[in-house]
Amino acid sequence: MAPSPVRIGALASGNGSNLQAIVDQCDSGAIPGKVVLVLSDKRNAGALQRAADHGIPHRFIDPGLFSDRGMYDTNLVEELLKAKVDLVVLAGYMRLVSDQFVDTFPNRVMNIHPSLLPAFPGLHVQRQALEHGARFSGCTVHFVDKGLDTGPIIQQAVVPILPDDTVETLSKRILREEHR
Ligand code: GRF
Repeated sequence: MAPSPVRIGALASGNGSNLQAIVDQCDSGAIPGKVVLVLSDKRNAGALQRAADHGIPHRFIDPGLFSDRGMYDTNLVEELLKAKVDLVVLAGYMRLVSDQFVDTFPNRVMNIHPSLLPAFPGLHVQRQALEHGARFSGCTVHFVDKGLDTGPIIQQAVVPILPDDTVETLSKRILREEHR
C-alpha cells in the first residue's frame, strides 16, 4: 500500500506563486504530499484565491485581532493541529513565527527565502544583494528555528546578478528557482 501523503499546511502572505508550485508538484506526484490548509495574515492574499481555486481549505486570520505575535500564532497552531498537518511550509509568509510555534512543530517547519543564506537574512533581500554588489544570489529552503532565517539549510539554488538588474528583474529570476 502506498504511504499516505504528507499533510502540508501552508502560511502565505502574498501572491502565492510558491504555494502554487507546491500544489502543482503535489498534484504531479513530484512532492509526496497534499496541501490540506492555507492560512494567511493578509485578507487579499493571492495565495487564498489560489487555495480556493484548488478546493483547499483556507482562512485569513487577522493579526489585528490579537494583542501580540504569541496570541496570533496560538491561533495558527490550533488551526494547523486541527487539520492534522505533518509539515508546515512558509510560502512567502512575511511574519516571524513565535518560539512556541517552532516548538509545536520541531523540524517540521520549512521556509523559502530569496537569498543564499546565511547571506542577506530578513527583508528586502534582493535590494540588499544589489546594494552590496554581489555577483550571485539565489534562494534557500531551510528548516525554521527560533532565529531569523537561521535554521538548517535543505536546498539552495544560485542565481547570477546581471549588471543592469533591478530589484524587479532579480526577484523574478530568483522566484523561478524558488518554484523549482
Ligand atoms: C518570494 O520571493 C518568497 O521567497 C518571499 O516572498 C516572495 C513571495 O512570493 N518570502 P509568492 O507569494 O510565493 O509569489
